[in-house]
Amino acid sequence: MENEILWGNMGHDNQDDIITPIRACTVGSNILQFEHLIDEMELTFGDAWGDLQVAEIVQFLTQEDAKTLELLVFALSNADANDHEAICQVVQSAATANIPSIVVAADISPAALHKIMRAGAQEFLPYPLPEGEMQACIQRINAPAPSAPEVSPMTDMVEPLPSTVKAGPGTKNGDVIVCHGLAGGVGTTTLAVNLAWELAAQGTSSVCLIDLDLQFGSVATYLDLDRKSAILQLLTDIDAIDDHSFRQALQVSGDKLSVFTSPKELVPLDILTNDDVKKLIAIAKSHFDIVVIDAPTTIVSWSQVLLEEATTYLGMMDIDMRSAQNIMRYVSLLEAEKIGYNNLRYVVNRAPKFTDLNGKTRMKRLSESLGIEIDFTLPDGSKHVAHACDHGEPLAIQAPKNPLRKEIEKMAKALMDEMTNLQNVA
Ligand SMILES: Nc1ncnc2c1ncn2[C@@H]1O[C@H](COP(=O)(O)OP(=O)(O)OP(=O)(O)O)[C@@H](O)[C@H]1O
Ligand SMILES: [Mg+2]
Repeated sequence: MENEILWGNMGHDNQDDIITPIRACTVGSNILQFEHLIDEMELTFGDAWGDLQVAEIVQFLTQEDAKTLELLVFALSNADANDHEAICQVVQSAATANIPSIVVAADISPAALHKIMRAGAQEFLPYPLPEGEMQACIQRINAPAPSAPEVSPMTDMVEPLPSTVKAGPGTKNGDVIVCHGLAGGVGTTTLAVNLAWELAAQGTSSVCLIDLDLQFGSVATYLDLDRKSAILQLLTDIDAIDDHSFRQALQVSGDKLSVFTSPKELVPLDILTNDDVKKLIAIAKSHFDIVVIDAPTTIVSWSQVLLEEATTYLGMMDIDMRSAQNIMRYVSLLEAEKIGYNNLRYVVNRAPKFTDLNGKTRMKRLSESLGIEIDFTLPDGSKHVAHACDHGEPLAIQAPKNPLRKEIEKMAKALMDEMTNLQNVA
């Protein structure tokens, strides 16, 4: 069997019945570790696929049998850790022969993934495979290329900027507002999306919303936007980001808000380094007056960069023990690491109504016991909020009179005034 392909039906090695031309091939040191992938390959390619080791695929690509190949799927785990250079070369040779590559990664370092994607792999999927993603990925790869180059919707957005906005694209130095949920599910994305929308709706500043909740970011869902494949390409190669590629990755929601969604693939949070995050923020600030970032609740190495870069860092919380304990842990970490946090401001979501005296007392006790000021309170907006999220529209469109929308609108005006005053002082 050496140097010969092991056919799709794993363990079936009777070469006499091999009549099907091979359409796809998995590559990696141990395909048997990827049971779910084997199922997906059989579902898509039947018997017309095989499996080879990295060392074997190089030779196979030169053979006549390889002419029918439509796809390479690299099934990689840390057992392939020493083969990354060779894998990059195979990806490049396959790309030259117009054979696309998908990387299915069980446990490989972000640096290795970055290199392989740069070498020309089209798509990345985590393993275990998210439901339906393998099929969707193959469909995307097989989709006919657009006949004309994609025209960035940003050009529509950037050109007609109001006359009050003097600086042109790429020359600004925008403010950054980070929304960080101090516990999961406290309403951070709802705030980030609606705040960004209200800031943009004021019409005086260009606004970009960036979803850095890379794994489970829901900005795209809440604004009914695609998750473009360009996003993963940019995130895996931020060094190569330029004005053009950044603009190409953006989409416009409504006619004012530009959005950089999270990728459609589930990626590790450490796919980004601190420098990557700095660079992404720098390019966004150079194009927009205001950059709103939806940050992951999980603290990662680049969380510090977000705090340092933020003009205003909004710590979002509920009035409950979970949020209170997380705030204590978060602030202790900042103190221990001697990280400044003067820009940290607390937002209580689903805050008690004016008439809820018990609730107000609880909120007061919480802020006293934590020794924090609560800067903004947002009311419960009832089921209309989830309804707007599910419909992929901001509250301003779906429920303009909703109390939560009104409060976020006020918050946007207050933050805008503060930023303008700060700029005037500077
Ligand atoms: N003030 C509010 N009133 C009513 N519903 C709200 C309010 N804030 C958020 N929600 C609802 O709560 C749910 C969670 O909100 P959201 O996704 O914004 O939270 P999150 O903190 O971003 O969650 P995750 O930790 O998963 O990122 C959504 O269904 C949203 O519609
Ligand atoms: Mg969220």
